[in-house]
Amino acid sequence: MTLPETAVKRTGGQPLARIVYDADVIARRVAELGSAITVAYPDGELLVLGLLKGSFIFLSDLVRQIERPLQVDFLVAASYGAGTVSSGDVRLLYDPETDLAGKHILLVEDIIDTGKTLNRLVTLLGARQPRSLEICALLHKHIAEHLSLEARFVGFDAPRAFLVGYGLDHAENYRHLPYIASLT
Ligand code: IMP
Ligand code: MG
Repeated sequence: MTLPETAVKRTGGQPLARIVYDADVIARRVAELGSAITVAYPDGELLVLGLLKGSFIFLSDLVRQIERPLQVDFLVAASYGAGTVSSGDVRLLYDPETDLAGKHILLVEDIIDTGKTLNRLVTLLGARQPRSLEICALLHKHIAEHLSLEARFVGFDAPRAFLVGYGLDHAENYRHLPYIASLT
């Protein structure tokens, strides 16, 4: 897909290679995920736990497509510095204050790359006696060698390129793009 004129304004002229998922494609898929999640949780308390910062736009769109009672909280983990390669060094900078015991926990992630972030979080959250623990990822690169818990809800099987926009960053830039583009 060709880049819109506004890309130059939004990025300050930094070139993006191409749009991989445009805003309409994302909106349609997020609505489908919301329906699937609604059906998957017929009862019980549901806590949608967004992994910041990358999931902030996806999560805000997703929860508005889920037609059942739910609560929202966030986790802040940092795994990447300014690079485009996963460091595997996952630090938890904010831990949700909500009690997870007895609740369905849906962990919302922007993208699964090496899976190191999720593996660490699944161990950590699983130890808090949730009623269930599932993962919803907007994008999945399917390159992880070992995932302790495979994502139950996946938006798109993503190419191996480094993607930005719709919450995803490169060195904290591009999160505000309404579409997902590849950097290279
Ligand atoms: P993992 O631990 O390698 O699975 O990395 C997960 C985190 O790395 C994601 O939550 C993103 O913040 C970041 N990440 C991985 N791949 C990309 C990408 O293509 N674009 C932007 N961020 C990425
Ligand atoms: Mg990031």
